[in-house]
Amino acid sequence: MTPDSVAPTGAQLRRGPLREGERVQLTDAKGRPHTIQLAAGKVFHTHRGHLSHDTLIGSDEGVVVRTSSGAGLLALRPLLNDFVMSMPRGAAVVYPKDAGQIVQYGDIFPGARVVEAGVGSGALTMSLLRAIGDEGELISIERREDFADIARANVETHFGAPHPAWRLEIGDFADRVAEVAAPGTVDRIVLDMLAPWENLEAAAGALAPGGVFLAYVATTTQLSRLAEDLREHGGFTEPQAWETMVRTWHLEGLSVRPDHRMIGHTGFLLTARRLAPGVEAPLRHRRPAKGAYPVDDEWTPEDLGERAVSDKKVRKVRRDALRSIEAIEGTEAMPAQPDEED
Ligand SMILES: C[S@@+](CC[C@H](N)C(=O)[O-])C[C@H]1O[C@@H](n2cnc3c(N)ncnc32)[C@H](O)[C@@H]1O
Repeated sequence: MTPDSVAPTGAQLRRGPLREGERVQLTDAKGRPHTIQLAAGKVFHTHRGHLSHDTLIGSDEGVVVRTSSGAGLLALRPLLNDFVMSMPRGAAVVYPKDAGQIVQYGDIFPGARVVEAGVGSGALTMSLLRAIGDEGELISIERREDFADIARANVETHFGAPHPAWRLEIGDFADRVAEVAAPGTVDRIVLDMLAPWENLEAAAGALAPGGVFLAYVATTTQLSRLAEDLREHGGFTEPQAWETMVRTWHLEGLSVRPDHRMIGHTGFLLTARRLAPGVEAPLRHRRPAKGAYPVDDEWTPEDLGERAVSDKKVRKVRRDALRSIEAIEGTEAMPAQPDEED
């Protein structure tokens, strides 16, 4: 790309004729996508013939090109979702369905100052960069240099050049965040890592009052630990948590129904807002359910959110159950208990 060509993150990069170096998705008659990076003189081989990249360079998107044996291939620039699902991965990526939720519920706005960690393969990074735009600032902290290299390559391939709003820092979030962002200056923090609760103090220090803390975790045990530690910290509002399930549909003639397969689980999202420094967390409106926190180490059904069953209710259920046996077997019911007729 020449210095005076189109802005690297501009819309023009995704418009006009296909250029050398761009990725193109070729979809065959069975709907199978193949992604290639256009290079002059290179040839794409399929089991149904081959195709010269030169045929595509300079042509419009949305055309159907033919391989040497006449098989049609539809050529389109991959959308961000397509790109994320086909790009090289070091670590698991945030799927598009969750990235959309993170941008919306994390309130990632144009011009925002955002810190994310870890970066992994850079999938979420791209959605965050799109949402903040060239005027925003995204500082991405990744502890593994090899993953950071993969993420940088993916992000630059997607945007066609280094993104002007992006800084990638190597290291541990808790160690690096105070070095890369002055205290209380960050609008949004997004954590996608195994143990986000280890970073609450550092996140609280970096976030501006009212700033949004958002974490993505894969398991309920992580979610529970994070929620409890956030409450314990005291510098955040009550955490909100949710998950999303997306069910795609089969659309053909009269056969309009959900697809048989779906992505059953990706992760859980949790958000909380940063309180002003020194402000105590307001009292929760609802008192926790009785027994929601175990007193000793002994777990009760209430620890798991199950409703407590009174002894009286159990006696009644037992009595009814025994009576139904009696009706079947013609035997005597249990002798009446003192409060049996309650
Ligand atoms: C699941 S991956 C992140 C995937 C990424 N969000 C994406 O969409 O491609 C988790 C990453 O967090 C990094 N990580 C874990 N703990 C970290 C910490 N305390 N500071 C910085 N990076 C961390 C790991 O090395 C790993 O690359």
